[in-house]
Amino acid sequence: MSPSNTIPKQKTMHILSADQFDRPFLDRLCDLTDTIRRFDKSKEGLLYLQSLLPHRRAMLYFTQPSTRTFLSFQSACHIVGINASEIRDPSTSSEVKGESIEDSLRTFSSYVDLIIMRSPVPGLCNRVAALLDETPRPVPIINAGSGPDEHPTQALLDIYTLNRSFKNHEGIPGKTICMVGDLKRGRTVRSLSKLLTKYANVNLIFASPPEFKIGDDLRQTLKKSGVHFTETTDFESAISNSDAIYMTRIQDEYDKSAGESKGVDTSKFCLREHHLKKIKQHCVIMHPLPRRDELDPAIDRDPRAKYWRQERNGMWTRVALITMVMGADQNILLPEL
Ligand code: CP
Repeated sequence: MSPSNTIPKQKTMHILSADQFDRPFLDRLCDLTDTIRRFDKSKEGLLYLQSLLPHRRAMLYFTQPSTRTFLSFQSACHIVGINASEIRDPSTSSEVKGESIEDSLRTFSSYVDLIIMRSPVPGLCNRVAALLDETPRPVPIINAGSGPDEHPTQALLDIYTLNRSFKNHEGIPGKTICMVGDLKRGRTVRSLSKLLTKYANVNLIFASPPEFKIGDDLRQTLKKSGVHFTETTDFESAISNSDAIYMTRIQDEYDKSAGESKGVDTSKFCLREHHLKKIKQHCVIMHPLPRRDELDPAIDRDPRAKYWRQERNGMWTRVALITMVMGADQNILLPEL
């Protein structure tokens, strides 16, 4: 094999937390996602993307329910030619024989080149990444959701969606972004809020019932970053003053006692059709999905509703991210269209 055919070794890039991204990384990811999407316009373009990583294998280890993160990562792997295996139910793995999660994940690293994992256990990805870094085969870990803690790739696709939506409105800097719902246990809100601190003069509004206010750790992080933010129970004023509204559902899977969330009045934190005439003309309505009754399906028809695009943006952002993690992004050249 000639030297040009060998696969160069590089430092392992894990995706673990929104804390690890700076503004140049976010700008690079958005630009790369835009470039990659241009290949989607032709069969030749899609075959080119498939030629990027056909020599690589990935494991999707999702032991917490997921529809769009799982499918978008699986599709992203297929788009760049990666062969993806999956475990979604740990009762089908040797964990039932008493194998630790750490040993299971180390085992995956014997067979694949990338591990994408969702787990209910906060901090597990970081532990596994540190463990693998000590081994001769430290494959990258991508955190696809870690309990109520972090969802960094959701935050990346949310930034991409905001960036794209504000392209003709001077971008994300200076915008007022309102997060609504269960802000205490919503990992998407935690990760996205951290990324929004990277943009100048952003104003964050957190609208929730008192029981679901943001956690003190996020509050301290935001204070330290210098970003302007307010917390309110006045949903109607918050949404009418915002350039983007980020709705979220109640995260009752993390209830500490049966019916804990049912005891909280969330009825005033639902976006209904009648609100549409009160929000800004260019307002961007987002939701990480899945939704319940906090977001009226009647809003889907409004051009300001971006959550279905947001979902699809997720697949393309993850394609771009995988190429970066696997060191294939430098080879991508703009297609001739
Ligand atoms: N937004 C999100 O993480 O959706 P899923 O739980 O369906 O993956």
